[in-house]
Amino acid sequence: MYQPGLKGIVAAQTAISHIDGEKGLLIYRGHDVRTLTGRCSFEEAAYLLWYGRMPSTEEADHLGEELKTNRTLSEPMLDILTHLPVNMDPMSVLRTVLSAEGGTEYVWKPTLDQAVRITALIPTIIAYRERHLKGAAFIKPHDELGHVSNYLYMLTGMEPDHAVSQALETYMILTMEHGMNASTFSARVTASTESDLISSVISAIGTMKGPLHGGAPTGVIALLEEIGTEENAESVIRKKISQGEKLMGFGHRIYKTRDPRATALKGKLLEFHGENEELDLAIAIEDIAVNLLEKLKPGRGLYTNVEYYAASIMRAIHLPDHLFTPTFTAARAVGWTAHVLEQSENNTIFRPQSDYIGTLV
Ligand code: ACO
Repeated sequence: MYQPGLKGIVAAQTAISHIDGEKGLLIYRGHDVRTLTGRCSFEEAAYLLWYGRMPSTEEADHLGEELKTNRTLSEPMLDILTHLPVNMDPMSVLRTVLSAEGGTEYVWKPTLDQAVRITALIPTIIAYRERHLKGAAFIKPHDELGHVSNYLYMLTGMEPDHAVSQALETYMILTMEHGMNASTFSARVTASTESDLISSVISAIGTMKGPLHGGAPTGVIALLEEIGTEENAESVIRKKISQGEKLMGFGHRIYKTRDPRATALKGKLLEFHGENEELDLAIAIEDIAVNLLEKLKPGRGLYTNVEYYAASIMRAIHLPDHLFTPTFTAARAVGWTAHVLEQSENNTIFRPQSDYIGTLV
């Protein structure tokens, strides 16, 4: 039976994460994700996803050291990064530069060391490309800083404020992993052919880039800017829906209630900002949009997804808009690699069928 977009089809069994779309729950290896943010670091959450259990302090420190050791780009990567066309978008740059990583060691089966190396490299690629485009010198990774703080440091050359790196860490933990989303599925399909881990991650990056998936935060900013004021919200939203447009940051294949990550990010933003006009407007527009969507598209269960407040959190910490999707990618690399490792443990090649609707001559 044909199911457009594989809606409702179970494509894999996984012990990595679970989503309850009706209750609005996201579980990483048995832990409700909302209990992880603020309590654990990026490194600890990554350890949980990769190893299947929370680390001891020594184990988390060890993983932190491994990430630090692997942050440096090779000469070929630097060479490519500086020679790509200046108008190439950052996700295409990431996809291209990461392709130059590794040689013969990246063969089937994938390893955890490779997962750590890829995760460590991505923030450096993003930050170095950003510096290169600004005509600024590269900032070498800071040995004393953890994964998230170091990313911000490599972008600006300044050690980030604790609240800023905490806000980004919250976002990155919440978006590290999310079941069989489109990019993770891409990664698993590539892995299922017994291709290498780099190729799986490159497939996932290409999938992540699309506006219906990881490209949505930029669309959220465009939507909020187009609306501009609370008074305009209803007419702009009505017009978009009547034209068959989708509101960026709303709707989800699995969640038919509010995405728990959106709730957690909103909480973090309120804590970070206190009173803030931009955030107040985003909250007001959310309420208006959800009520209108219920009237205009009844029964579809359209609420805010993670991308709605992702845009606000990244703006709040002054990340430029074009880095939103790459930053999401830096987080999701953990989930992708965990899934590829899981796929490799019990692999069957993905090879669905298609329904021929052409003619016979
Ligand atoms: N705005 C308005 N209407 C919507 C929206 C939206 N954001 N999302 C879904 N709908 C409507 C559709 O028009 C459709 O209505 P219909 O029954 O009248 O045809 C109905 O809800 C079902 O929509 P589908 O597109 O079939 O739902 P699907 O599960 O395929 O899509 C998706 C999920 C892609 C996330 C969709 O909601 C969307 O495009 N949202 C906007 C983009 C976005 O925010 N993406 C980020 C998702 S989170 C992430 O990837 C990290």
